[in-house]
Amino acid sequence: INPVPLRSALLEWYDKVHELRGMPWRKPYNPSLSREERAQRAYEVWISEIMLQQTQVITVIPYYNKWMQKFPTIRDLAASDIETVNGLWKGLGYYSRAARILSGAQKTSEEFHGLLPDNAKDMEATIPGIGRYSAGAICSIAYNECVPVLDGNVHRLLSRVLALHAPPKSKKTLDILWAGAGVMVKDSKRPGDINQALIELGSTVCKPWCKGYNRFSSVESQEATEDSDIEELCSL
Ligand code: ADE
Repeated sequence: INPVPLRSALLEWYDKVHELRGMPWRKPYNPSLSREERAQRAYEVWISEIMLQQTQVITVIPYYNKWMQKFPTIRDLAASDIETVNGLWKGLGYYSRAARILSGAQKTSEEFHGLLPDNAKDMEATIPGIGRYSAGAICSIAYNECVPVLDGNVHRLLSRVLALHAPPKSKKTLDILWAGAGVMVKDSKRPGDINQALIELGSTVCKPWCKGYNRFSSVESQEATEDSDIEELCSL
């Protein structure tokens, strides 16, 4: 399994389509930003990723813009309270997400001088509400760290690419898919764009057969990938 041609085709496609939906949190990675400016990007990406977890892009855009007007920095957010935060979240649902963002912002302000950790491992370990997916998304996009993401979209996409005929939620399946997602970003110059391209391809093109149905995520008529290829993938 050679990810290199897959990667360049994916980025070529992404470069053509990614501006079409006007997502305000997407900005090209800029290597000359200071630590503070990069942490500000991490804050913006964090808010967008949490909002996007259960909500579509088109719905999130006005909520995101309003949020950034009210809380331009993580310190503005940390100084607020749960009533104000829930007010801005009204209509997005799953309010526990908003409460976790507030406590994450407070911890970041109190313990890290208002700067989100600059790598996925520390971010996942220290910030409440940030798990492996969010840490991967934020750190690849804002800090250009070569860490993968695996959400429902990337799960389905990679299952089809690998013709993985396996129970979707089993530990082994998830290990294989995280490894596959890892191969896609390993030593890449643009890990954040690769991750966003995988999410975007999964959500706009490589869709579930029917709503809410991720079970037979690979193509049934395709030959299942050989175990030896899977082992090779996991060892990369
Ligand atoms: N869904 C979750 N994260 C996303 C992102 N960065 N871009 C588009 N859709 C997303």
